[in-house]
Amino acid sequence: MRLPSLALAATLSRVASASLQVVPGGTWTASNGEALQAHGAGLIQVNGTYYMVGEDKSGGSSFQNVNCYSSTDLVQWTLVGAVLSRTASGDLGPNRVVERPKVIYNDKTQKYVLWMHMDSGSYGEARVAVATGDSVCGKYQYIRSFQPLGRESRDMGLFKDDDGKGYLLTEDRKYGLRIVALSDDYLSPTTDVFSWKLDGGSRVEAPAMLKLGKTYYMFASMMTGWDANENQYTTSTSLTSGWSAWKKFADSGSKTYNSQTTYILKTSESSAIYMGDRWLKDNLMASSYVWLPLSISGTSVSMKNYVSWVPTSSFAAWQAPPAENSYEAEKAVYGGKARNVNCSACSNKLAAGYIGGPDKGSVTFSDIKSDIDGMTTIRIKYLNSDSGSRYANARVNGDAGRKLAFLPAKGDPASSTLNVNLKKGADNTIVIEGVGTSWGPDVDRLMVPVQ
Ligand SMILES: *[C@@H]1O[C@H](CO)[C@@H](O)[C@H](O)[C@H]1NC(C)=O
Ligand SMILES: *[C@@H]1O[C@H](CO)[C@@H](O)[C@H](O)[C@H]1NC(C)=O
Repeated sequence: MRLPSLALAATLSRVASASLQVVPGGTWTASNGEALQAHGAGLIQVNGTYYMVGEDKSGGSSFQNVNCYSSTDLVQWTLVGAVLSRTASGDLGPNRVVERPKVIYNDKTQKYVLWMHMDSGSYGEARVAVATGDSVCGKYQYIRSFQPLGRESRDMGLFKDDDGKGYLLTEDRKYGLRIVALSDDYLSPTTDVFSWKLDGGSRVEAPAMLKLGKTYYMFASMMTGWDANENQYTTSTSLTSGWSAWKKFADSGSKTYNSQTTYILKTSESSAIYMGDRWLKDNLMASSYVWLPLSISGTSVSMKNYVSWVPTSSFAAWQAPPAENSYEAEKAVYGGKARNVNCSACSNKLAAGYIGGPDKGSVTFSDIKSDIDGMTTIRIKYLNSDSGSRYANARVNGDAGRKLAFLPAKGDPASSTLNVNLKKGADNTIVIEGVGTSWGPDVDRLMVPVQ
């Protein structure tokens, strides 16, 4: 459906003044002040809002919740709630594995249908599970788990075709990767549609399907445990035959920029965004999200890496990151007992340490420049040598601030994103301070878009 012209005009003006950025691999703080927990996620768009449904790993690798977040700009995410949560026993009980939740909407039953990989802690069950919801981000009814058509299933994806037919993409590790048709209500697998036999390449994990025009694009990864590999794609104009040879789409040797496919978001009839997970196997909750625009021309797909990029409001187009100024913490003004700490990988080899804590350490950056009035994404470069998140309150131009999370980052400074409104001119002020008396991250510098 097209937007009425008034809404379109409003949307376009937002594009002109906003440069919210997607920062692959950064800490993305959601509306609840915590790092987004939606690993192995799928997206679904309902009435112009994107919903992201993924694994909550905040309590470790065992199933805790399948979370649902919403966003209209793909950058700022609101935690709506858990669509499934741990129960006392059974499939959703303690020490269970629930991975790669994906939701599609069934027009006939008017239910949102959620499929996921369901397993024991040792991955010995190799099942799928199904649940349904009346609203996209509400509580779902858990139905059952099983092996689809009697076969093992580990990584999985879902695909809804233009004609309303639903398909399960399933890793049958003993055989290969399969496309299996679903019943009209999407609750059961019915028949095999196509399969790729396990070969030297072993492209069986992380399947995700995109359709642009009449062409299907199937993405998948190799099998290298939690470590990243060179993910690949194949195309066809039919689900049942004619699939091309598998090819890489990211730069060779980059291991898909150290990520694994989870979902491909279609943004127009000729564009799509790659969504991957950068898994940290020893601390899964600190795994981050690598989202990058795909370049698609006919049956050719490629993807470049960016520190950040700007999704425009139509999402079909995107822009490279704006020019940035950098502001060093050690040149800013310290409050409380904040002070310089050595940081060999930081710019100038220094960072602001002792942010927060009982003495309320803080760092105040003044004279921050912006060429426009409007929302932008500032990257706070930081270190956090803990195994859990640290937090800071970020105040902008005298406001009360917002809580930001900083996932573990040892060695090289990582980025946590701060989405805020800046004033045109050169007198914006940003204060990074503690939350309560807990310790914040060590802050290396701010990277601030000029426009
Ligand atoms: C989408 O918006 C329409 C019109 O406002 C409304 O009737 C419908 O219930 C909405 N659908 C969902 C799933 O929210
Ligand atoms: C930081 O590095 C300098 C120069 O190497 C050294 O003199 C100083 O002791 C170091 N400070 C700390 C706290 O390690």
